[in-house]
This record gives sequence, structure tokens and C-alpha cells, in this order.
Amino acid sequence: MNLNLSGQSVAIIGAARGIGRAIAEGFIAEGCHVRGFDREQSADFITTGDVTSYETVKSFAAGFERVDHVVFCVGIGSGKFGFPFWNLEPSDWARVLDVNLIGAVNVAHAFAPKLIERGAGSMLFLVSVAGQIGSQTDPPYSASKAALINFTQCAAKDLGPHNIRVNALAPGMVKTELNQSIWAAGQQKLPEDQRVSFDDWAAEKIKKVSHLGRWQMPDEYAAMATFLASDHAKNITGQTINIDGGQVMHA
Ligand SMILES: NC(=O)c1ccc[n+]([C@@H]2O[C@H](COP(=O)([O-])OP(=O)(O)OC[C@H]3O[C@@H](n4cnc5c(N)ncnc54)[C@H](O)[C@@H]3O)[C@@H](O)[C@H]2O)c1
Repeated sequence: MNLNLSGQSVAIIGAARGIGRAIAEGFIAEGCHVRGFDREQSADFITTGDVTSYETVKSFAAGFERVDHVVFCVGIGSGKFGFPFWNLEPSDWARVLDVNLIGAVNVAHAFAPKLIERGAGSMLFLVSVAGQIGSQTDPPYSASKAALINFTQCAAKDLGPHNIRVNALAPGMVKTELNQSIWAAGQQKLPEDQRVSFDDWAAEKIKKVSHLGRWQMPDEYAAMATFLASDHAKNITGQTINIDGGQVMHA
């Protein structure tokens, strides 16, 4: 399928590694001009900064003469885990909400005027199945993603009349550093003789949550992100699209 994205300009927030990096590479392979933003600098197309600083995000956006697509891939967990939620303190919530939700709002505010000026384009927010099922693993993470799904719909309604589409992409279980941190935190709570390797933990977990029984890989999100940016998706807006091996099924 020809996506006809060649020459388009794409901003990827959270592009240093994991899914964001794969999405950046996917757009580059389609012939797009990609500029990334991340708190880590792992490639020369990345500007460093913290997404919670609106000023920093605004000055990143100001560097674009033209932007066609914006993809927000940043996401953090609390580093502590629920089961039950009172294993966390209320003070554990603020940073997660600040990065995962307010970070996305900063990006939407910074780039909306540029997209509106062009009268075309798209935004895509990486969310999570956790935001659809009240996942107990990390309650502030789940709540931040649920809120971002809701904001996606709100932004899609506001930007639709300007010919700008806004969607969310929900991964299930992807082998990235984010999941390794969940494994590592879980292991710390176990006596040493009950600890397992990341690969064994991952194999067991994926059997439980995915009907297809296999992990998702970052390049699958690149394929969907580039499709959603293309004209083939011109009537898709306000949607949350799951690539999760059937972990969550919508009626
Ligand atoms: N890996 C999974 O299984 C999984 C599952 C569901 C949803 N997701 C979501 O997909 C997205 C990408 O996940 P990933 O697994 O690639 O994560 P990752 O941790 O590998 O990458 C996240 C990127 O965001 C950057 N980042 C974090 N905080 C930042 C900040 N304050 N300012 C700027 N950059 C910041 C990191 O440096 C990193 O490059 C996230 O939104 C995540 O919540 C991932």
C-alpha cells in the first residue's frame, strides 16, 4: 500500500527509544522529515527536553516551519505497583499524571495552531489497554491513560472542523524498557528463591493476557501510526485503536 507520506513533516515526542523510536523510523522509511523530542538524546534528530515544561515543548514546536503529523509516545509508570492501590501514596500520582497526561496536553496546545494554520494533518497519542480496563498494576498510570483517551476524543471534536484527525493507539504488552521495569519491581518484592528471569516472567505473563499468546513488537505500532497519518485513514478520528493481541475486545 502506498501511504503517500513522502516529504511530510512529523514531530515525534518520546522518540529516543522503544515504540516512539520505532515510529520515528517508520516515518523516516516513508520518506518523511522527522524531528524528535525526548528527555534522552539517543539520535541526532532528537531535541532534548522534558515534556512537562510547556515552554520547552512550545519552543520545540516553534522550530517547525510546517508540521503535518504529531505523535506523542511518552509514558512513565510510578515505579511502584498497586494490588492494592494503597501500596502507593497519593503523592506517587502527580508525576505520572504530569508526564503522561499534562505532557500530552502541552504537546496538543503547542502544535494545534500550526496544524490549524495548514488546515490538515493528524495527532496520535500512545495510550494503553491499562486505560480501558482499570488495570491494578499501576493505578496512576491506568488513570492517566484513561484521561488521555478522553482528551483524544475532545481534541478530535475540536480539530475535526479544521480537517485534523486525532486518534489514540493502545499497546498491550510490548517488549520495551517500560515492561522490564514492571518485571524488575515485581521481583524485588519476592524472596530470592522465587525470582524468575525477565524472559520467563514475560512468557508466563503473555500467556495469561493475550489470546494470541505472543508479545507485540514496536514496529507494529510504526505500521499503524504511518497508516493513520495517511489519507487511507481520512475518515478515522476520535478512535482508540488497540494493537494488543486481543487483550481487550470492544463490543
Ligand atoms: N511497552 C508496553 O508494553 C506498553 C504498553 C502499553 C502502553 N505503552 C505506551 O506506549 C508508549 C511508549 O512506550 P515504550 O514502551 O516505548 O516506553 P519507553 O519507556 O521505552 O519509552 C518512552 C520514552 O519517553 C521518554 N520520556 C519519558 N519521560 C519523559 C519526559 N518527561 N519528557 C520527555 N521524554 C520522556 C523516554 O526517555 C523514552 O524515550 C508510552 O506512552 C507507554 O505508556 C507501552
